[in-house]
Amino acid sequence: MDSTGSSLERTRAPAHGLEIEHEVSLRELNSFGLPAMAHSLVRVKSEGDVRRLLADPAYGTAPKLVLGGGSNLVFSRDPQAVVLRVEVAGRRLVAERPDAWIVEAGAGETWHEFVAWTLAQGWPGLENLALIPGTVGAAPVQNIGAYGLELADRFESLDAVDLVTGRTVTLDARACAFGYRDSVFKRDAIDGGLSGKSLITRVRLRLPRPWTPVLGYLDLERRMNETGNRAPDARTLFDWVCAIRRAKLPDPAQIGNAGSFFKNPIVSAEQCRDIIGRDPEIVHYPLPDGRVKLAAGWLIDACGWKGKSVGRAGVYERQALVLVNRGGATGAEVVALARAIQESVYGRFGIRLEPEPVIV
Ligand code: EPU
Repeated sequence: MDSTGSSLERTRAPAHGLEIEHEVSLRELNSFGLPAMAHSLVRVKSEGDVRRLLADPAYGTAPKLVLGGGSNLVFSRDPQAVVLRVEVAGRRLVAERPDAWIVEAGAGETWHEFVAWTLAQGWPGLENLALIPGTVGAAPVQNIGAYGLELADRFESLDAVDLVTGRTVTLDARACAFGYRDSVFKRDAIDGGLSGKSLITRVRLRLPRPWTPVLGYLDLERRMNETGNRAPDARTLFDWVCAIRRAKLPDPAQIGNAGSFFKNPIVSAEQCRDIIGRDPEIVHYPLPDGRVKLAAGWLIDACGWKGKSVGRAGVYERQALVLVNRGGATGAEVVALARAIQESVYGRFGIRLEPEPVIV
């Protein structure tokens, strides 16, 4: 069987009433559009589905790969694990408190549709995170963030199923150990993490009342100056964020990509001074702890990568931090391009760029 999905043979074997699909193409299930094949795939619509799988003698103890919208991973080969495609649906208002609306969504809901729905219901607070690709369940995994707001800033709690015991647990923000594009779900067990050990089923967010806008990000400042609107409401901010993203970032429905491919590196003040001495133009943001975050897009751009390609994998013309599939790229080509970029940034600036998506 090749891994292009062209000669799909789908056999289905019932296991405790649960449907397990075999030899499923993952090309349509990852936003990069990379070819890969799941030898076994289960669509998880409820906690019960996970428990049924765990009770199955053939699959219960097998390694597992949790797949949400596939917008933050790179298939460099066929996954050797049972793929659990999360399709838990539903969204609701859990509580209306004087200080906040608490809203909940199933992990399989599309993040952007959920943001738009909360706004339409009159519960603002997520507008800066509009148009981020992927599912609700994937949002806490990498602590999505954009335009001055991170998921962690709006997080209440989540439910997850333990992939060994089948028990459902509720985790608060502390237990999720959120960091910059990081959480306990991204870290391996050896580092105290839950990667591959747990499947998020539902996420609850806290939208503070009264609503106050999160402004201050350069691109939003620019919009305020252009429009003369110094006090945008939530709907206006949502529209601005959508317009800014559409202008800068490729739509995965048209050009395969996984958003930012690298994290913005954080360096010591001393290291930053050293780099500024050589490259005064470098885009950098001082952090409260004295360290400095550098714009990885700027570093990659400065090394001349914008618009370049390795095979059919390329660097997006309008934002050097985003790698794209120019049509028919393999995961190996994306990884080769990423390595070449890392080497050249390290060679010029002495900085190691860390990939943001999970490489399978
Ligand atoms: N820049 C360049 N050349 C480039 C790209 C960027 O010089 O090719 C410069 C820009 O001019 C700007 C600075 O780098 O001064 C930062 O660029 P931008 O505002 O586009 O943001 P970013 O740091 O590249 C981060 C997030 C994005 C998020 C935006 C907006 C990370 C890894 N990425 O990008 O998140 O949308 O800020 O808040 O933190 C994602 O995670 O997938 C993602 C798209």
